[in-house]
Amino acid sequence: AHDQEIESLINKMTIEEKVGQMTQITLDVITKGDDIYSSYEPFELDQDSLNKALIDHHIGSVLNTANNRALTPQKWYSLISQIQETALKDRLEIPVIYGVDMIHGATYTVGATMFPQQIGQAATRNRDLVKKGAEITAYETRASSISWNFSPVLDLGMDPRFPRIWESFGEDPYLISELGVEMIDGYEGENNDLSNPEHVASSLKHFLGYHAATSGKDRTPSYIPTSALREYHLPSFKAAVEAGAHTIMINSGIINGIPVHANKNLLTGLLKEELNFKGLVVTDWADIENLHRRDRIAKDNKEAVMMAINAGIDMSMVPYKYEVFYNSLVELVKEGKVKEERIDDAVRRILRVKFALNLFEHPTTNPKDYPDFGSKDFENAAYNTAAESITLLKNEENILPLKKNAKILVTGPNANNMRTLNGAWTYSWQGEKTPEYAQDYNTILEALQQKGKKKNVTYVPGVSYKMDGKYYEQAPDQLEKAVLEAKKADVVILCLGENTYTEKPGDLNDLYLNGHQVELAQKVAATGTPVILVLNEGRPRIISKIEPKMKAVVQTYLPGNFGGDALADILFGEVNPSGKLPYTYPRYPNATIGYIHKPSEEQKKAEGVYNYEADYNPQYRFGDGLSYTTFKYSDLKINTTEIGAGEKLQVSVKVTNTGDRKGKEVVELYTSDLYASKITPDVKRLRRFTKIELAPGASKTLDFTISTDDLKYADQNGKSILEAGEFKIMIKDLEESFFVKED
Ligand code: IFM
Repeated sequence: AHDQEIESLINKMTIEEKVGQMTQITLDVITKGDDIYSSYEPFELDQDSLNKALIDHHIGSVLNTANNRALTPQKWYSLISQIQETALKDRLEIPVIYGVDMIHGATYTVGATMFPQQIGQAATRNRDLVKKGAEITAYETRASSISWNFSPVLDLGMDPRFPRIWESFGEDPYLISELGVEMIDGYEGENNDLSNPEHVASSLKHFLGYHAATSGKDRTPSYIPTSALREYHLPSFKAAVEAGAHTIMINSGIINGIPVHANKNLLTGLLKEELNFKGLVVTDWADIENLHRRDRIAKDNKEAVMMAINAGIDMSMVPYKYEVFYNSLVELVKEGKVKEERIDDAVRRILRVKFALNLFEHPTTNPKDYPDFGSKDFENAAYNTAAESITLLKNEENILPLKKNAKILVTGPNANNMRTLNGAWTYSWQGEKTPEYAQDYNTILEALQQKGKKKNVTYVPGVSYKMDGKYYEQAPDQLEKAVLEAKKADVVILCLGENTYTEKPGDLNDLYLNGHQVELAQKVAATGTPVILVLNEGRPRIISKIEPKMKAVVQTYLPGNFGGDALADILFGEVNPSGKLPYTYPRYPNATIGYIHKPSEEQKKAEGVYNYEADYNPQYRFGDGLSYTTFKYSDLKINTTEIGAGEKLQVSVKVTNTGDRKGKEVVELYTSDLYASKITPDVKRLRRFTKIELAPGASKTLDFTISTDDLKYADQNGKSILEAGEFKIMIKDLEESFFVKED
């Protein structure tokens, strides 16, 4: 819509002005001193540094530092106003775009509404809740005068060891695609109309294959065959590009030996040409410099700049010394090593986002125009999302729900901890700077005390985290105290899990739940008092040593500020749980296979030939999640047993609530390709899901449509193919066969 304005601006720009637009600096480059690191409110911008960056170097974008703390909306407003006023003093008066990681609510703004992290949102399987959460996040982010959000994560959360699995929608490409599109619609509006001051530009990340590191550790090399890249990693990004997302961030890692930031085939060939992505491509943190310093594919910083920009990067996030990036790129263009058309293309993409956001007319948005910021309605939405995310994984002898007057021992390091409910990227990068006011919300302990009988709830930490890091402490007498109190209680609520982390600080050498926590679990279970294990963790830490002794297991993920309340309501039966695991919960550290796997991974002793336990024998499966009621599936029907290419199959199934409570159920439809000639088929794949609510005794018939596109797979060259033969439709324990005809 702004094509002419953009072209006329580009025609006026010098090479220096274009390169400036392509540069994104951190806030600490333009602040005074280092008080940004130590306090979350007062710090000042340094006008001289601002002038140097924004006027002398025409810098186009700013983002938080790794050490940012949350600011009030008013503080954000005054900060961004000063940045924009300076930018508009430059010759061409181009506003800056400010980017931030507000990934589960406007998490860097004091008083904003915190939703469950993405992994919990995926567990809801509720598209409306995901969209609503993103709408509220966009509103509260704009209330902070910020217009660009580095969210959603569309990576395949395939490896439980990886420190960012909780930032993803889990391990299934279809689930990620569906919820990713909802989140984009929530951030950008259904028509991607960013001129609406309640919308933000989203940033799909991290293109492509970020979570597939062989070591399971952040930013370490991956080896991904083309078929897997296309079949599993690409669909969510493809769907999001088709949904009109405005920006994308690149995977910091190396795939098949090539750093993604230097991979022209992926960035230009696949993303910009094949997917026809017209938006802005931004690097991850310092990743151009990393091509030289870390990955050694470029012999110096200048060569790194040349490689990245020629590969298709439009904006450089955090060149450590922005002058180095700026001067290098200016020289490269003048030397003809980067074509001016390439930087024109980059600037065009950047300006498109700035115009779309209407930043030229309204470079800031004022908190006073956002009266719903932090409102009760918003908080209710966050509570509902938390309540629908919490996943009941085990409930022996229906020990849950608890009686309100039960005598309860609450123990474990996550029992009385606001920080662990929210996870990282909350108030600060590692979540460690949780401010005082966060204490206004209820921890698990406080919620149980409020909703049960306070005098019946006893608390012994048992094991604690050091609040400045991810490590654990155990006071010598804590275990005995916990055992003593467990003996006196009717039930123990044992809150275990992880402290907060993201990126490299979250790398692990051991996926088992930390030893002190296991000891606490074993000791309290040995008292004979029934134990409810509540997990509050970003990734599935292995619990196989203690799980058999637990009467019930409840996964809360990272449920946000209302997670404690939602959990207490579920434990006391006020809310019927309906969350479903968005990943496979492994039983052993060397058996981390997800539900998408090959038939050979299911062969086992029972089949006679092999004398092994099957590789795929997880603690809990993708899609697991119990309810306080029961659902019966019947009448699975398909309209035909044969379809040709381009035709559709109609599927219906009846679901009945056979218990005595109202409940929500997620209905999942899988397909199975029995034989495929080019690539061994996966055992089954999720193709559709929906969430329904049924009163006791009520039933509903659900209709699904499957097309032959759903039945295609990527061959070894990445080509999507449909093969004739037998397929199955599977819903719960029901299945029906059908055939795809020869062409
Ligand atoms: O958006 C993030 C990304 O996910 C990890 N590296 C830093 C970026 C900006 O904060």
